[in-house]
Amino acid sequence: MPVVSVNSHSFTLGGAGNVANNLRALGATVAFVGAVGGDAEGQRARTLFEEIAVDTRGMIVVSDRPTTRKTRIVAHSQQVVRADWESTAPLGAADRAAAVGRVADAGCGVFIVHARNAWLQGLSPKDNRELPPLRYEVVHRLKRDFADLTIVLNGGLTSNADIQGQLEHLDGVMLGREAYRHPWLMADWDRCFFDEPVVPRSREDVEDQMLVYMQRAVDAGEPWSHVARHLLGLRNGLPGARRWRQVWSDTSLKSESPRAVARRAHEMVRLD
Ligand SMILES: Cc1cc2nc3c(=O)[nH]c(=O)nc-3n(C[C@H](O)[C@H](O)[C@H](O)COP(=O)(O)O)c2cc1C
Repeated sequence: MPVVSVNSHSFTLGGAGNVANNLRALGATVAFVGAVGGDAEGQRARTLFEEIAVDTRGMIVVSDRPTTRKTRIVAHSQQVVRADWESTAPLGAADRAAAVGRVADAGCGVFIVHARNAWLQGLSPKDNRELPPLRYEVVHRLKRDFADLTIVLNGGLTSNADIQGQLEHLDGVMLGREAYRHPWLMADWDRCFFDEPVVPRSREDVEDQMLVYMQRAVDAGEPWSHVARHLLGLRNGLPGARRWRQVWSDTSLKSESPRAVARRAHEMVRLD
């Protein structure tokens, strides 16, 4: 078993503390909102924030929760081992409401709430968009508790029916992956959700407008693929979508103009 003899030790704030520190260095006014335990480490974190003039009124003390703490043992500038104390359990309803209340007191009126709790240990960002359960009820409750705030829900919505269902409880929704996978879902949102007339527009019209944008990117020295990769879902659900997507993601075409690539892509669609 390795045994180390301790020469010195120090305490520093973690990732969020670093952000706060950098913002202070840029001259910003910074307020920190988050949960700490009712332990000595929580008190130490408060003192460290106060030393860099960060407003700590948003720190919520949860007495039966440990303050997240990571102890690194470093020998000859190499980290040998790290010991973590933390709880990954979601905050209870009262603490969650206290956190939102403090952010609102600081002047924030719009909250976009991801209905999944990220699991910060062991899950990739991709898995974190899939595996933790969706807790829509938590978001609905926030709206009931804070009727004056604008509460927007994010997470797992894939259809206009889903959106309509959420809008019965909330002020808005945000779609992540579905807007990417099936952007055409958005085509009639003006009519469905804003009571505005839909400008008749085809996918080809959209692609055509994007070509102008891509050409502008190319003229500024950027490859068209940086724009095109956000467009790849445009034809999903139509015959030929896969071939069309293959052309737009073909890096060997990078020296061709966007319009020439579009012509190729449509030739492939016609083959289907
Ligand atoms: C391509 C892509 C990029 C994303 N980038 C970010 C990001 O930079 N920061 C962030 O907080 N979330 C990011 N997200 C997460 C989304 O904002 C959203 O929270 C997540 O996809 C869950 O919503 P959904 O179930 O509708 O996809 C990204 C998602 C996708 C699909």
